[in-house]
Amino acid sequence: MSIDGSERAVAHIFNSAVAASAISAAWEVGALDELKSQGALDASEFATAHGLDPSATTGLFRALAAVDIVERADNKVTPAVNFEEAYRTRSFFHWLTRGSGELFRRMPELLPEQNRTGDYYQRDSAAISFACREISSFCYDPWFDQAVEGLDFTPRVIADLGCGSGERLSQLLRRHPEARGLGIDIARPSLEVAASAAHDAGLADRLSFVLADVRDMTERPGFAEVELLTCFMMGHDFWPRERCVDILRRLRSIFPATRRFLLGDATRTVGTADRDLPTFTLGFEVAHDLMGTFIPRVTDWESVFAEGGWRLRKKYAIDIAVGEVIFELEQL
Ligand SMILES: C[S@@+](CC[C@H](N)C(=O)[O-])C[C@H]1O[C@@H](n2cnc3c(N)ncnc32)[C@H](O)[C@@H]1O
Repeated sequence: MSIDGSERAVAHIFNSAVAASAISAAWEVGALDELKSQGALDASEFATAHGLDPSATTGLFRALAAVDIVERADNKVTPAVNFEEAYRTRSFFHWLTRGSGELFRRMPELLPEQNRTGDYYQRDSAAISFACREISSFCYDPWFDQAVEGLDFTPRVIADLGCGSGERLSQLLRRHPEARGLGIDIARPSLEVAASAAHDAGLADRLSFVLADVRDMTERPGFAEVELLTCFMMGHDFWPRERCVDILRRLRSIFPATRRFLLGDATRTVGTADRDLPTFTLGFEVAHDLMGTFIPRVTDWESVFAEGGWRLRKKYAIDIAVGEVIFELEQL
């Protein structure tokens, strides 16, 4: 069977949709790491070693081969031309298919105005935390480390808003062995992941977790001692503008000892043609359109800090996929 022109292009769209799930799965079952470290694998031996169904495992590698991520010769699977880039961006695919799959599956139901009230969509918060841990490692961490390195004080208590997997706090506590950490998140499954990771890392006695919605949180024991506040990949949930200003003010008053607030998030991309969008941007922005979440531009953020009681000390413009930026704030 030979196909050309738009027939071929559309087949590629279809195959790519299947491959997007296969990238996430291949990451989770360890196939991407094995291919990266060994340079090849045997599909049937891989299936046996991991207790996987042999036919389903072959299907997984076929889906990856359809978009040139691997090559197959009988059972032998080797990396192909797109392997390195898919490996680098695998967490974006995981975010899309595992974390946000339900959102896209239900797209037609999420479009009508009349359906968009209350908790009208679902995502898998544990899967999103898993993906975000890796997304953060290359989209934020090198700049985050610079910001933390540049602090002119040693924080004794650190709180992370929307802590997800808790990885950021774990990193900070490893860097500051005397510090204590407080992770706050709205999703119980994320906090369960975080608590178990803290336990495995031997940090359970220095790290505690609070189940709360940061947007309407009030004072709690321990909040008044926090000196470093961090918030990554959730600040857009503070918006629209008036609510964002209100939340920034409230954070200032419930964390009165905060000397620095590191706020890192995606911002709305401006001026890229639809056809030229890199991996992740489209998924991220369409998902937030479906969820009715406003994604602020950098200038939107810059317009709220002073009103919210914070001074912008420094801005790290990262812009890898979704206009990532870190704002370093201090109390006004
Ligand atoms: C995209 S993940 C980022 C996780 C983590 N900050 C990181 O850098 O990897 C967003 C996290 O914010 C949490 N979250 C979203 N809205 C929240 C809210 N209103 N209050 C508290 N947590 C929230 C989600 O449950 C999720 O764990």
